Amino acid sequence: MERIRFNYRDFCGLEEGTISQVGKALSQYQSELLSIGGKMEYGTHESSINLSFDQEMHNEINAVAQKLITSSLKYIIHVGIGGSNLGTQAIYEAYVGNLDPFLIERVPKIIFIDTVNDAKLVALQNILRVLGSSDEVAVVVVSKSGITTETVANFEIIYTLLKDRFGEVNHRIVMVTDRGSKLWVAGESEGFVLLPIPKKVGGRFSVFSAAGTLSLILSGIPVDEAREGASLAREFALSSSLEENDALLSAVILFLYHEKGIHTHNNFLFDSSLEFLGKWHRQLLAESTGKDGKGILPIVSIGSTDLHSVGQFYLGGNHRAITTFVHEANEHKQTHTRIKSLPLLPELVLNIAGKSPREINDAIYQGVKEAYRKRGLPFMEITLPNLSLKTIGVYMQTKMIEVMYLAHLLGVNAFDQPNVESYKDETRDILKR
Ligand code: PA5
Repeated sequence: MERIRFNYRDFCGLEEGTISQVGKALSQYQSELLSIGGKMEYGTHESSINLSFDQEMHNEINAVAQKLITSSLKYIIHVGIGGSNLGTQAIYEAYVGNLDPFLIERVPKIIFIDTVNDAKLVALQNILRVLGSSDEVAVVVVSKSGITTETVANFEIIYTLLKDRFGEVNHRIVMVTDRGSKLWVAGESEGFVLLPIPKKVGGRFSVFSAAGTLSLILSGIPVDEAREGASLAREFALSSSLEENDALLSAVILFLYHEKGIHTHNNFLFDSSLEFLGKWHRQLLAESTGKDGKGILPIVSIGSTDLHSVGQFYLGGNHRAITTFVHEANEHKQTHTRIKSLPLLPELVLNIAGKSPREINDAIYQGVKEAYRKRGLPFMEITLPNLSLKTIGVYMQTKMIEVMYLAHLLGVNAFDQPNVESYKDETRDILKR
């Protein structure tokens, strides 16, 4: 596989010697990760790095999926929020593109239900009305804790809609949660199929467990390719050669900027189908580092769209951030449309005659980088060889290990989210009244 290229030297604004010195501070932690990676078990929070390798777990997930896959399956309703949906949606959109709602022939589709939204639930009800049988739908409810208000509320409503429409539907529902959570216990007593998330694996690190993969398998996406990418990435991210280790390099750069007082990271992805990948990463970085008065605030930007809303601020405002540009290599990409060699409006934008959307986007991308460089704005660059599942798997696992390194350098616990829990508790209290 062609590797993801990570460039930082010419534009990150830091000395190589400083980066490698700080990198050395991670060697003890790296040995711990290596030893966790050497055993197929889930005794530590970091053990999510084993998920992509766990064939036994994936066989179990596949066996459940095979029971739900029917020749008429059209919709998978994925109910979950935060770490319980963003990874799935990131892979789904990167793979099928963000035009999925318009591709009515492309089924089975995943419908993501995260926040509680009446209009969305009504739209879902309208879809259920035109389905002929419960075999055309499967519901995957994902909640690590098993008690998230939005997820439980959405499931209650969806269950009623399904029951009203089809009668007996329990066999079309799977719950993915911590073994023994309240959701697990309730699901067991109702006779739903259950799949566990390993206890120590947190929501934002769970994409390669059933939490992330089951809905994707049901929708026909060859998830094994993403797992393969993730497994490859683990090798690189645990490598002691700094040159090889993009996760470690990027973590060190973010840490050094944090120490200089720059606490914002702009993940600038140049492909609209990667927007959810950006959102997945935003949660990963924010929830893993934002605590004890420390952390990196992640921004997600999509090129070229967001250049026309926040580009001015990024280039001319008080933008104290380190940016990572993420783009796909141009080399092998096919193009289906092109501007005519004699355009209708040749005077409006010069030199676009005969160019494809890809060539135009590439010119914009190079232009942005050049503008950043000229203003001395620090950035890193990730060049994806393509948007294959394998590449997305590499990206995701690299980022998960990067965040572990970064939190370690910052001296914070990457795996808890005490303040998320605090507003969840408040909400439950308010609902009691
Ligand atoms: O990372 C986290 O822990 C949170 O963002 C959760 O993913 C989110 O709140 C959903 O929680 P749960 O999976 O417990 O329903």
